[in-house]
Amino acid sequence: MATRPIGDVILDVRNISLHFGGVKALTDITFDVREHEIRAIIGPNGAGKSSMLNCINGVYQPQSGSISLRGKTFRHMKPRQVAEMGVARTFQNLALFKGMSVLDNIMTGRNLKMRTNLLQQAFRMPFGWGAAEREETEQRIVVERIIDFLEIQPYRKTPVGQLPYGLQKRVDLGRALAMEPQVLLLDEPMAGMNVEEKQDMSRFVLDVNAEFGTTIVLIEHDMGVVMDISDRVVVLDYGRKIGDGLPDEVRANPEVISAYLGTVH
Ligand SMILES: Nc1ncnc2c1ncn2[C@@H]1O[C@H](COP(=O)(O)OP(=O)(O)OP(=O)(O)O)[C@@H](O)[C@H]1O
Ligand SMILES: [Mg+2]
Repeated sequence: MATRPIGDVILDVRNISLHFGGVKALTDITFDVREHEIRAIIGPNGAGKSSMLNCINGVYQPQSGSISLRGKTFRHMKPRQVAEMGVARTFQNLALFKGMSVLDNIMTGRNLKMRTNLLQQAFRMPFGWGAAEREETEQRIVVERIIDFLEIQPYRKTPVGQLPYGLQKRVDLGRALAMEPQVLLLDEPMAGMNVEEKQDMSRFVLDVNAEFGTTIVLIEHDMGVVMDISDRVVVLDYGRKIGDGLPDEVRANPEVISAYLGTVH
């Protein structure tokens, strides 16, 4: 299905193991992600999918293994440093400011890109006044473009908490896009959505990938969605990798089928 040219490896995950006391969340996980591809991570509940994304973006520090972006290994990096390297993510449980407008929530994703410092912005200091004003206008233009792209213009001033869940997820995607990431990590962006909302979100994920060339790592439970939009799939089960390949290969893999027995409808 891919019409974008898939490039070289951009994200390389090698032999990652992560445990919390006696709980082995991830055991010796190795996989790669190629530039411009949509790479799905699937697996039953508790398989270690979110933990894997948390290792990639610096929320968790794995006990062993390495992760590199374009050949640059990042060990012991904080989430902000990983973000500065061009990796953005959305969360399984929404991390939006419910009382703030759609526009302001997406604006928070621009913080990384702000050049003038916060003091200058807060006090409009003599040195910073012109720069801060100009910068805010520039940032707003980018944010408005994202709002147009995600077709949420009618809600730009609406507090996020008042929106239906499906639209809140779209705003969360907008916040991540505002970081202009090279790699976008999406943790169940379609969870809790109805069929129509899932179709919309699938289309936006494909559009982000096609129009901005963003590489996407996608955790998703809906196998129909995964088979439709992903280029390659990693399968985790109890913290181990049990499958890796094209959607059709993974679907035919006996170990994957048995891990899913009783959970697929
Ligand atoms: N901060 C933590 N402290 C202790 N245990 C944790 C922590 N985070 C994850 N775990 C454990 O690691 C394992 C993997 O959890 P994880 O959330 O990564 O699974 P998942 O595949 O994302 O599941 P789901 O589909 O339910 O979201 C689970 O046993 C979980 O309880
Ligand atoms: Mg999870």
